[in-house]
Amino acid sequence: MSVHIAAKKGEIAKTVLQPGDPLRAKYIADNFLDEVRLVSQTRNIYYFTGLYKGKEISVGASGMGVPSIGIYSFELFTEYEVDTIIRIGTCGAYTSDLKLFDLLNVENAASESTYAKFAWGNEDELIANQGNSFALMNETAQKLSLEIKPTNIHTSDIFYRKDTTIPEIASKYGCLAVEMEAFALFANAKYLGKNAATLLTVSDIIPTREQISADEREKSLKPMIELALETALQL
Ligand code: HPA
Repeated sequence: MSVHIAAKKGEIAKTVLQPGDPLRAKYIADNFLDEVRLVSQTRNIYYFTGLYKGKEISVGASGMGVPSIGIYSFELFTEYEVDTIIRIGTCGAYTSDLKLFDLLNVENAASESTYAKFAWGNEDELIANQGNSFALMNETAQKLSLEIKPTNIHTSDIFYRKDTTIPEIASKYGCLAVEMEAFALFANAKYLGKNAATLLTVSDIIPTREQISADEREKSLKPMIELALETALQL
């Protein structure tokens, strides 16, 4: 048991898929895993452990934002001996060069967040994915004939803002899209010597205000889930 996850030691697999939303974790467990056990439901942040093609995988939510993923990923890495976390989430595109449903593999996350500085003394504003899962994801996508774009993204603390121009840090590092978690996940993994990747589906095009509708959302995430699971299978 850790502070925010109620699973016992040994009840979480070495590889964890981490969506933001607890109900998405449940959807993945119900539709993609066999012999599923619910191992934590503290704060309704569900964690499930089951088998994917015979390999033990866990899936559980990060919640939204840097503080939340900072807590869950740290506890997974340190209390449950998790080796790899693959975040699977959505993002808003800063450019209409990206299309709804595009799949992005995050190479680096740039952020104005002070999380890495005050948690780990890491003053970098750009933090890379950690370990081999990023490369494995690119290779696996190719094998599955899925198009995936390696890119830098902006991890922001802000969803709603008055000014819709592209934030300076995103321009500085060529970030094509924005989400709210990858930077903290990568910072934790880097400090702890663990592996972390982030796979994102474009759910919003910020300049045109296009959005994936609520009922498109579930099926739109299928390729991302399959790619993350097929990658996890090889870890
Ligand atoms: N901003 C931040 N995070 C997001 C967005 C967005 O527009 N869309 C999906 N996640």
